[in-house]
Amino acid sequence: MKKYILAITGASGSIFGVRLLEELLKLSEVHLVISSNTFPIIEDETGIDWTKEGAKGKGQKAKGKKPEDIIRRHFKTDRLFFYEDKDMEAPIASGSFKTDGMLVVPCSMKTLSGIANGYANNLIERAADVVIKEGRPLLLSPREMPFSAIHLENMLKLARLGVKIAPPVPAFYQKPKNIDDIVNFIVGKILDTFSIEHTLFKRWGG
Ligand SMILES: Cc1cc2nc3c(=O)[nH]c(=O)nc-3n(C[C@H](O)[C@H](O)[C@H](O)COP(=O)(O)O)c2cc1C
Repeated sequence: MKKYILAITGASGSIFGVRLLEELLKLSEVHLVISSNTFPIIEDETGIDWTKEGAKGKGQKAKGKKPEDIIRRHFKTDRLFFYEDKDMEAPIASGSFKTDGMLVVPCSMKTLSGIANGYANNLIERAADVVIKEGRPLLLSPREMPFSAIHLENMLKLARLGVKIAPPVPAFYQKPKNIDDIVNFIVGKILDTFSIEHTLFKRWGG
């Protein structure tokens, strides 16, 4: 079974990361890191709160319930491994832990910069640094509007190293009818770059 690292960072578009996670788990083992900045954005944009399921009052955390427990119970699978972004001792922080690549969806400009400059300041940046040094596939889905020259330079630097830069840009030849259609198209295109089978959209001419 293939083994992928998935990072979800604090850019808008967390729905792409969540949908991608659902798809990856169908066929593969997933090592998931969600940056601490991202949980409020996931809650704001999708309504999913992975930090306080079962909490009794507002802002109160359920006893003994960590995001890891909540996420694993939500997806009901033993193929999912979750790490906090400050956990620098996680297996994915080392090149000796073999994976089939990493996806950062969506990717904030801060994480993009950290990866482009080898900063390795948290587990996401370190895992990406490892994937690059080991020559394994890496895809980033940077989300910002508009991009500055700094963002573009960081993307170009990484693209020249073979990193796939795949911003969540929709196409309209699919005639999307709702947000789900747009999300499925973007996630399907991301899966295509890793040659992962899916039925998320109808192919042009197919
Ligand atoms: C609601 C919200 C939306 C954001 N959207 C973006 C975005 O689309 N792109 C981006 O680069 N940063 C965005 N940010 C800022 C990042 O969350 C911030 O730079 C954060 O430090 C990123 O950290 P991380 O990469 O470790 O998740 C957003 C922040 C908030 C609160």
